[in-house]
Amino acid sequence: EGLKLWGGRFTGATDPLMDLYNASLPYDKKMYKVDLEGTKVYTEGLEKINLLTKDELSEIHRGLKLIEAEWAEGKFVEKPGDEDIHTANERRLGELIGRGISGKVHTGRSRNDQVATDMRLYVRDNLTQLADYLKQFIQVIIKRAEQEIDVLMPGYTHLQRAQPIRWSHWLSMYATYFTEDYERLNQIVKRLNKSPLGAGALAGHPYGIDREYIAERLGFDSVIGNSLAAVSDRDFVVETMFWSSLFMNHISRFSEDLIIYSTGEFGFIKLADAYSTGSSLMPQKKNPDSLELLRGKSGRCFGALAGFLMSIKSIPSTYNKDMQEDKEPLFDTLITVEHSILIASGVVSTLNIDAERMKNALTMDMLATDLADYLVRRGVPFRETHHISGECVRQAEELNLSGIDQLSLEQLKSIDSRFEADVASTFDFEASVEKRTATGGTSKTAVLKQLDALNEKLES
Ligand code: ARG
Repeated sequence: EGLKLWGGRFTGATDPLMDLYNASLPYDKKMYKVDLEGTKVYTEGLEKINLLTKDELSEIHRGLKLIEAEWAEGKFVEKPGDEDIHTANERRLGELIGRGISGKVHTGRSRNDQVATDMRLYVRDNLTQLADYLKQFIQVIIKRAEQEIDVLMPGYTHLQRAQPIRWSHWLSMYATYFTEDYERLNQIVKRLNKSPLGAGALAGHPYGIDREYIAERLGFDSVIGNSLAAVSDRDFVVETMFWSSLFMNHISRFSEDLIIYSTGEFGFIKLADAYSTGSSLMPQKKNPDSLELLRGKSGRCFGALAGFLMSIKSIPSTYNKDMQEDKEPLFDTLITVEHSILIASGVVSTLNIDAERMKNALTMDMLATDLADYLVRRGVPFRETHHISGECVRQAEELNLSGIDQLSLEQLKSIDSRFEADVASTFDFEASVEKRTATGGTSKTAVLKQLDALNEKLES
């Protein structure tokens, strides 16, 4: 017994606060299922190398099933000394089938390869579910874009009106971002799907367990080829949180656009009541809280990523308790992202657009580039036409006209003699949009093609 310098308050053999500080069960019990699954398969591996008899194995499997039912029904009784999900499950197994048999389960295994295995299984399951929700979200966006393909709106740079685009082109932009996220997510799942089980505490398995066999039984594609790396690698946690951060960054920008579009000043969209809230003081208010939360929660995900990177940046090889700090930020991130995808899907599928307001926000100066292009099509170098068109804009302003389309042919000709009567056809938003037929552009066919391509990627 060491002397406790701070004395008095802590009288037990171990500092009770240390027990609390050390315990991960309050949050890692989320992984009860994969922990039991890992033990089920690991003991199969032990039976294969004759460290368990067939009867012992079936007793163990019977016990594991009972424990799973207890957790599922909320009947699992946690006891003091249950430090984490691994010790809790093993303790309970002993109570159910006797320690004579349960005491053999951990042969050759360490909580180090056990927790690494549980985490990979847990993350794999969660990301697979997220991928499914994400796919449905993207399909909601695509469907909306197809239905509202005829609606025009201003496209912005610097939040200044720039050129007319299709509302569907804007939707397709985010569908493009999110489809990249979808593909990146599937890559992460593939990369993390390797088994650490059978690595032992760090040095490897002393009884020659068939790691490939247990890996396959757990649905892993392969085994991690170095036992030290197997127990110490949390890159998949970092990658998952980075993925989440990047995705939430897209969600945040998407939300910001929609918040702006929903203001009285813009009035392009109206959120459904289901995703808005009122003010306790101002009766007229309808606030886009859903979008603000989506934007705000992105910060929480970035923080989780940064925090965990700090936690692991200097830990020596191999397992160190610092690594237990992977769980809370990861679990919080996963649930935040899951809810965010579902909320964003709800927002997009229920909002209403005001196509009139969008159209009325288009202004003739947004066709100044098209006016420059008119002369380009007559062989004038673009740098020159850019200047000429700029002069037209200035002149219209000086004459207090409502737009460049109000300049007479004579006035245009006095700026540049190469303007002809057909210049009038330039001042048409639909025509401007329909000129952008090259891949990725805002013409109807170009946008529909983008949506088709995205659909195809989602199905492959
Ligand atoms: N609860 C621990 C964790 O999450 C399990 C591994 C404990 N291993 C150990 N050698 N103390 O990291």
